[in-house]
Amino acid sequence: MAEYNTDVLIIGTGPAGSATAALLSTYGIENMAVNRYRWLANTPRAHITNQRTMEVLRDLGRDVEDEAYLFAAHQELMGENVFCESLAGEEIGRMKSWGNHPLSKAEHLMASPTIMNDLPQTFMEPLLFKTACSRGTQARMSTQYLSHEQDADGVTSTCLDRLSGKEFTIRSKYLVGADGGNSLVAEQAGLPFEGKMGVGGSMNILFRADLSKHVAHRPSVLYWVMQPGADVGGIGMGLVRMVRPWNEWLIVWGYDINQPAPEVDEAMATDVARQLVGDPELEIELISANTWTVNNMYATHMQKERVFIMGDAAHRHPPSNGLGSNTSIQDSFNLAWKLAAVLKGQAGEALLDSYSVERAPVAKQIVTRANQSISEFGPIFEALGMGEGVDPEVMQQNLIARCDSTDEAEAQREAIRKAIAFKKYEFDAHGVEMNQRYKSDAIVTDGQPEPAFDRDQELHYHATTWPGARIPHCWVFDHDTGNKYSTLDLCGGGKFTVLTAIGGEAWEDAAKTVGDELGLDIAVHVIGPRRKYVDHTGDWARANEITDRGCVLVRPDQHVAWRSEGMAADPAGELRRILKSILAK
Ligand code: FDA
Repeated sequence: MAEYNTDVLIIGTGPAGSATAALLSTYGIENMAVNRYRWLANTPRAHITNQRTMEVLRDLGRDVEDEAYLFAAHQELMGENVFCESLAGEEIGRMKSWGNHPLSKAEHLMASPTIMNDLPQTFMEPLLFKTACSRGTQARMSTQYLSHEQDADGVTSTCLDRLSGKEFTIRSKYLVGADGGNSLVAEQAGLPFEGKMGVGGSMNILFRADLSKHVAHRPSVLYWVMQPGADVGGIGMGLVRMVRPWNEWLIVWGYDINQPAPEVDEAMATDVARQLVGDPELEIELISANTWTVNNMYATHMQKERVFIMGDAAHRHPPSNGLGSNTSIQDSFNLAWKLAAVLKGQAGEALLDSYSVERAPVAKQIVTRANQSISEFGPIFEALGMGEGVDPEVMQQNLIARCDSTDEAEAQREAIRKAIAFKKYEFDAHGVEMNQRYKSDAIVTDGQPEPAFDRDQELHYHATTWPGARIPHCWVFDHDTGNKYSTLDLCGGGKFTVLTAIGGEAWEDAAKTVGDELGLDIAVHVIGPRRKYVDHTGDWARANEITDRGCVLVRPDQHVAWRSEGMAADPAGELRRILKSILAK
């Protein structure tokens, strides 16, 4: 007999584990989360928080979303991605990033009710964890997962209570491995991976110093310092990252992975900070220093029967594009409602198979993107004549050469401009963040061909109600109060939703009938004049790709499950067929 019982045991209380716990508790599912440490993230690590992640927080509640904004550095402070010799030294170039270019800003505003922001992991984790615990999650800190065994009815996990030194077991119906890049759950489950771990080494130096005079006039989260000969590990570049504007910073500095990881003491940290800031007198208050390895690995399958992996356990990659924590939280949004539906008896277990089918391609996509982004610094180095093996003095001369009035120098300046602008694939890749379209048995296509991306799909989000895509965001207005709501606000909350318009009322009756039969509470919104929600601007009518009598069926994770262009001959029959197929009933 196990000492503890729960429906879902979650290993890890990072962004993935805490988000899963928060969502499951919100859906009314019993769950337990364990963390081998006594508390949450002790360094700011993840920070770029994209719109899709903010939509998950918004779905957890406006209070959760608002608290994130309260602690975040606002999007406007994220924008001037700077490349320089040092913070005090010469600037080589910059690019507007993270939705701060006016054109990109417009696209962000049109894509989502939420705002991208910079929320360090030291704020994100406590927010998600608090949400989880206050809504019912049983959390057990200083508790280390050791192993698990699964059978036909559940999973028995063995854990170590690190305070007493005693081992104990937890019996759960499902086990979620959100235990990070060295996932023991993934290893024990024998899940398949592709790629390599430890392709590079980095050290983090977290410190306090007021650097306002160097940065406040060009606010950014990332200052890339290119100093010939100054690097460790061959990339010739250090990163000074804003943690709190403008007095808390994280320096990320490469080290040679083939050598032992360096010991970073106060003297070394101060030296590195002085060098990158370009101020030999700089005094810093060192908060912490640690090393980490750069990985290039993803799971090709994220489920073994009752065991699931998510977050860094499934996708391990460098911080480029700021995708790690974001994707981890988005994994949880995909899995949590499916677990809830199965545990509530609303769905058959086969629904759970769609998690890996939908999210493993995302794992591959983001690991590939993040590693590609590292190599795409290459053209900047080349343009600066800072290729590998070049003597620091020669590199310095090349830097100076770009200031000449020769044809070569003009060509070099052009090459630098182009190389920096090309980094939008890392620093302003809205499409990478928002364009996920799922293809699985938990989606029913309507026979229409998949809409092609009419612009670069990594850079630009393409709104569509094509089944599998996330429901497009449009503002609609409450008829009585005039308050505006996003179409995403009308969906989610753990429920399936039917969106229709005037003439589509038969879908409402159908949803009621089928919902009663399947034990589902299906939300229905008839959008139109004198209805509860009014599409005053016509944006929703333009975006929804159906007629007023048609409908869009949206899953609890705000992805379109199915759509019907017009009214069906037998709307209840259609909805029953679709939902039974999606829910594997
Ligand atoms: P995470 O590693 O955060 O959590 C794992 C959890 O499992 C922890 O609670 C741990 O204690 C626990 N655990 C592990 N083994 C256990 C065991 N055996 N028993 C019990 N508990 C166990 N991402 C992003 O989206 N935007 C960004 O801007 C950045 N920037 C960034 C900068 C830097 C410098 C780094 C190093 C990383 C980033 N990231 C990022 C990546 C981001 O930090 C990372 O992807 C997430 O923390 C992953 O979240 P998880 O919850 O999957 O794992």
